[in-house]
Amino acid sequence: DAWLPVALILGYLLGSIPFGLILTKLAGTQDLRSIGSGNIGATNVLRTGRKGLAAATLLCDMLKGTVAVVISGYFGGPNAAMLAGLGAFLGHLFPVWLKFKGGKGVAVYIGVLIGLFWPAAVVFCVLWLGTAATTRYSSLSALVASFITPIFLWWFGHPALASLFVVLTLLLFYMHRENIKRLQAGTEGRIGQK
Ligand code: G3P
Repeated sequence: DAWLPVALILGYLLGSIPFGLILTKLAGTQDLRSIGSGNIGATNVLRTGRKGLAAATLLCDMLKGTVAVVISGYFGGPNAAMLAGLGAFLGHLFPVWLKFKGGKGVAVYIGVLIGLFWPAAVVFCVLWLGTAATTRYSSLSALVASFITPIFLWWFGHPALASLFVVLTLLLFYMHRENIKRLQAGTEGRIGQK
């Protein structure tokens, strides 16, 4: 099927657009990579003090995953949609434009979920918000929500999606390895802290 490699590449290209960097550069804030965690995602954009920019980063990084999945699914069917989601996630984590040093994947994970099975994205967001409301840790919230997601997908009769999201969750945990160390050491920054 000719659409499968196209979907993977399209996903990668869309996923590799670093909206956090682009939006903060346009807004003229400090370089994201020199503040907070140094990450290019919405959580670190929030550390510039610009809530609107952080929300825009979250939205754009989500939507690039959703768009990749929906376009590929429309032309190539369900397998192309899944490959596009994988591509978008890999593109965000390892963008060729940034010498393969991208983000940690939380927003694009949600965006890909919206495109593939949106009820799971709702569950992810509820888990994320619940954990964030009680702990104020963005990273821990993402770890908890992404741990549950493949189980939820499998439980609701989507074994292929569950397998894909096992891979995405493992990658997400790997990208959060420094956050996990800081959580264990009690030195992780909380949401709203500079
Ligand atoms: O999930 C991105 C977030 O989980 C962590 O971002 O900047 O605190 O490392 P950051």
